[in-house]
This record gives sequence, C-alpha cells and structure tokens, in this order.
Amino acid sequence: MTQLPRTADELLALPRGEGERAVVMTMGALHEGHAALIRTARDRVGPDGQVVVTVFVNPLQFGAGEDLDRYPRTLDADLVVAEKAGADAVFAPSTDEVYPGGEPQVRITAGPMGGRLEGASRPGHFDGVLTVVAKLLHLTRPDVAVFGQKDAQQLAVITRMVRDLNFPVEIVGVGTVREGDNVALSSRNRYLSGVERVSAGELSRALFTGRQAASRGPQAVVRAARAVLDHAAAMEPPVVLDYLALVDAADFTDVPDGFTGEAVLAVAAKVGSTRLIDNVRIRFG
Ligand code: PAJ
Repeated sequence: MTQLPRTADELLALPRGEGERAVVMTMGALHEGHAALIRTARDRVGPDGQVVVTVFVNPLQFGAGEDLDRYPRTLDADLVVAEKAGADAVFAPSTDEVYPGGEPQVRITAGPMGGRLEGASRPGHFDGVLTVVAKLLHLTRPDVAVFGQKDAQQLAVITRMVRDLNFPVEIVGVGTVREGDNVALSSRNRYLSGVERVSAGELSRALFTGRQAASRGPQAVVRAARAVLDHAAAMEPPVVLDYLALVDAADFTDVPDGFTGEAVLAVAAKVGSTRLIDNVRIRFG
C-alpha cells in the first residue's frame, strides 16, 4: 500500500529503510510521462530503496493570468498511477503546509539561465520552481531526484542549482514520453479540443523536422522547424508561436553557427487558450 503523508511531520515519520530514497516531484494530474519517472526512480533505488512522489500545485511558479485555478487536481487517480508505477509514498501537502504564513520572503533565483525562453515568457517562473524544489528536497531528503526532459530548461536550472548550491542529491533526467501522434504527454493536454489537438501535433512535427536537418548545421535546423511552424500558424485553429530556439543544453544560451556539442531545440506556442512546450535534443559535431 502506498503511504499518503500530508504534513512535513508525517513525512518525517516515514521509515526510511536500508536503501536509497528517490523522489519524483509533480503537480499531480499524473500521466504516463510521470509514470516513466516513477519507474526510473524505482529501477534506480531497487527493491530495498524507497520512492517518494510529491504532488503539489505550486502557486509560486504561476504568473498572473496563468492556469493556477483551473490546473487539474486529481489526487485519487494520482495515487493509483503512482502505486502502479512503483511509488512507496505520495507526499501531498496543502499550500499552508508548504508555505505557512503565506509566500516566502527568501527565495532561490535562477539567474540568467532562468531569464531565457520560458523564463522570458513567464517572469519569475523558474524562481518559483527552484524555491519549491529546494523546499521539497529539504522535506523529502532524497539521495536521487528524477525530472523529465520534457521541461528541459527546468531540468537544466535544477541541475545547476544543485551544483552551484551544493545540494547533496543526484539529479537524474528522463526522456520525453509521447503519445501515438508524437504529442508530448502533458497535464495540460486535457484542455485541448479534438481540432486543437491536431494543431498541437505541429509542435513535435516541427522539432522532428528540424532535427532531421542536423547534419546541415544549426541554422538549417531552425529554418526547417520554422517552416513547419509558419504553416501551422495558418491552420484552424492556429498554432500561435511564442518562441522557437536552438540553445546549448547546458546553459540555454543561443547556439552559434559551427557549434559542437549537445543542443536543445525548444518550442512554446498557444493552441486556443492552452500553452504548450516541447523540445528535442540534438547533437552537433
Ligand atoms: P509537472 O508538470 O507535474 O511535471 C513533473 C515532472 O514530470 C517534471 O520533471 C516533468 O518534466 C515530468 N514530465 C512531465 N511530462 C512528461 C513527459 N511527457 N515525459 C517525461 N517527463 C515528463 O514540472 C513540474 O510539475 C513542476 O514544475 C515541479 C518540478 C513539480 C515543481 O513544482
């Protein structure tokens, strides 16, 4: 049976066992993407280890006018998904438990890396993410924390925080889980109508088309992806582009021509009222 601690004290009271502890942090509305993270955590710590999933919709990382109020909350279904994927405990605290006395005065800032792409479109977003991730790391005290490549910039800033601030935890990244039409699984996909879903498919199509041009260099990648998105902008309903960028996977700065190493081709767009992000990794050289 999966344990369900709701408070920091209940979490602390959870016996740790002999093995390592892995944590998978989520905002709930769990899907196959989250399940893949939980299975990776389970594999990583083995049968003697412990897998803790956190479910917390973090107000600090939502901007004004974003979907905090309508974000899906489905704890009963989440418990079933988490248990099936191999979780031992689901820590689902209230907002008051995480932020007693309201929003914290002291926060973690993501620095320049947190101001690019997603950070430029969502000011303060990564500060909110890092602040809650730091708190949840302190509360859960894991040996390993598992995050998805789906949120590539988030994974990069968390990896950087752990390195820069000497958090005693290993960060593990897991590849993006997609559906049959190649749309990346996301809790926000449930907002999409049938026709919006068809338009949403153009995001991954643009990224995959871009990646196919990799042997011709960074500029060719961006050109190929942009051509797909230009076409998608004229669809009904349209794909309204926020950004398309090819960046260095380590620090999210733009990739110069002649770049060698690991890059991320990232896209963000709105379809109807739903904002979607996706990315692929591309190796140059
Ligand atoms: P959430 O969007 O619920 O995602 C939780 C974790 O699942 C993240 O590491 C995310 O990258 C991963 N994930 C989501 N969809 C995925 C997919 N299709 N394939 C692989 N992994 C996927 O990200 C957050 O929550 C929050 O910002 C959080 C880190 C919990 C802090 O509040």
